[in-house]
Amino acid sequence: MSQKTYYIHTFGCQSNKSDSERIAGDYEARGYTEAADWRECDELIVNTCAIRQRAEDKAKGFLHNVRVYFNEQGTQRPKIILTGCMTHHGQEKLYEMLPIVDEILPINEVGFNSAAVRKDQKHAWIPISTGCNSFCTYCIVPYSRGREKSRDFDDIMAEVERLVAQGYEEITLLGMNVNSWGLEKLGIGFRKLMMENKEFTREDLPDNQSQYLPPTGTPPFVKLLQEISKYDQIKTIRFMTSNPWDFHDELIAEIGRNKKIDRYVHLPIQSGSDEVLYRMNRGYTTKRYIEVISKLRAADPNIVIGTDIIVGFPGETDAEFEKTVELSKEMNWKIAFVAIYSPRPGTASWRIYPDDIPHAVKKERWEILDTLINKSNLSVRPVVV
Ligand code: 5AD
Ligand code: SF4
Repeated sequence: MSQKTYYIHTFGCQSNKSDSERIAGDYEARGYTEAADWRECDELIVNTCAIRQRAEDKAKGFLHNVRVYFNEQGTQRPKIILTGCMTHHGQEKLYEMLPIVDEILPINEVGFNSAAVRKDQKHAWIPISTGCNSFCTYCIVPYSRGREKSRDFDDIMAEVERLVAQGYEEITLLGMNVNSWGLEKLGIGFRKLMMENKEFTREDLPDNQSQYLPPTGTPPFVKLLQEISKYDQIKTIRFMTSNPWDFHDELIAEIGRNKKIDRYVHLPIQSGSDEVLYRMNRGYTTKRYIEVISKLRAADPNIVIGTDIIVGFPGETDAEFEKTVELSKEMNWKIAFVAIYSPRPGTASWRIYPDDIPHAVKKERWEILDTLINKSNLSVRPVVV
């Protein structure tokens, strides 16, 4: 019998791309080989994204094409396995929504430890944490990827060592809240303190979204960057996604002095209005965001910053949107991924806020920010605080 084949169709972000490399590793470990095309495989894995409705629609559209193709051909279709963030719907609803799916692979079963099969020979993704505990009101990720969990240090370093042996020079550390890597292992989460009935005062608590107390000494993530930087062969280190919380001063100092860390830093703001940030449960104000950026630029003026912004969040008034426009002029982001708000079933904003901004208004706001930030050719100038 000829060797069985698999094919992975990946939607969504870098975490999904990285997961797909590990799913491929699992298949190869079981003796499968990769098919050149989904039309020719025995098992088709569809790794889905759910960040916005449009992302889900793309996966649905793809599966529709698969169904039509095999119906027309009249040939046996591959076994279809669905994984990724659409698994937030739960098995029952998914099988009902997408009857073509034969099996569902929960994301947390992908794990860190399967050997990744990488196509890129120079740059490697390394997942260092999974899940998210932040619960921004609009976001599906805590539901699709579950609770935050840091990968063991030794495990990460063993992978780095293997990558060095294979000749890799660039790595990107991945996590939904990548800078908090290792903090949960220190057991300094304030929720944990509350649950254990330990004593603490308001001053001990973080003043932002972080569930962790500010670490004393060098934060684990900074230590990790330092350890990885010791390999001469590693020339560039990137990490994503960061948030203004858990972006400790020690991390800023490390970025300033460690030139192996890429000079591009991605730091989502989501909105320039403190009221909208509050409704999003982002746990910081624009003042705190500006403070982080100012410190980064002071640490090295060559640092360039990119961001994510959501327009048309429930209740976003013209004045609130204008705040985002004004801040955009001030921040001089190199790039902004501007997204139109999409209510995600089960999230807090979906439960408590009507999706009340007309699509035409959302589109107009999207256009304004995209033009202002991504289509203008302003040279990099320092942030005005
Ligand atoms: N609607 C629109 N955009 C969203 N994002 C996350 N959830 C939503 C949503 N429900 C955006 C945020 C995030 C990026 C990955 O996607 O800007 O940073
Ligand atoms: Fe990535 Fe989020 Fe999309 Fe999941 S929902 S694939 S974590 S962007």
